[in-house]
Amino acid sequence: MTIANDALVLDAAAQDLLFREARTANTFTEEPVSEEQVQAIYDLVKYAPTAFNQQALRVVLVRSAEARERLVAHMADGNKAKTSTAPLVAILAADNEFHEELPAQFPAFPQAKDLFFSERPAREKSAGFNAALQAGYFIIGVRAAGLAAGPMTGFDAAGINKEFFADGDHSVLAVVNIGKPGADAWYPRSPRLAYDEVVTTV
Ligand SMILES: Cc1cc2nc3c(=O)[nH]c(=O)nc-3n(C[C@H](O)[C@H](O)[C@H](O)COP(=O)(O)O)c2cc1C
Repeated sequence: MTIANDALVLDAAAQDLLFREARTANTFTEEPVSEEQVQAIYDLVKYAPTAFNQQALRVVLVRSAEARERLVAHMADGNKAKTSTAPLVAILAADNEFHEELPAQFPAFPQAKDLFFSERPAREKSAGFNAALQAGYFIIGVRAAGLAAGPMTGFDAAGINKEFFADGDHSVLAVVNIGKPGADAWYPRSPRLAYDEVVTTV
């Protein structure tokens, strides 16, 4: 455990759970991930912000063996084994037709639907960015449940979109393995950029 920075109000254990000691898992135990756990994760991360409160993220929980097989077929070779064995796999996608919900979800400015999102390319750009933000929130939510996430973008996106989103209105963003970390779950920790390499002040 690292000494917590006094500038943070989040308690030190939560800082470690969500960030410092949380790792990207590559192996998992067999302990299942329940529907209740996923609901609790969603009920937390749904409050994190998106533009116009658009909430473009959609999540497909891959629970059947048949669906798992269909998904693994589209994963990069290096991602196949862990995607086959994780207790739960979630497909995170952007809903490019999120604007249909916008008047209800952003009642303060219902005109946003027609003003900004009448064209599909504008929707795809906004949905891709905002659902990716939500994917990040989702990973932190998984950690808040005491679970490890293994996010992946090594897959055939067109293949997954065709296989799981036949309506043509969704774009896969990431596939996330979820569970308790198993044996040798981590690759060596890679370095992180220092504050001064990332932050400038003008
Ligand atoms: C969007 C995203 C895509 C990733 N894609 C892959 C992947 O396809 N295969 C893989 O093994 N790891 C993948 N990773 C894992 C990253 O390499 C890992 O999270 C990063 O190196 C930090 O590792 P750490 O949490 O153990 O420090 C991905 C991570 C993210 C967030």
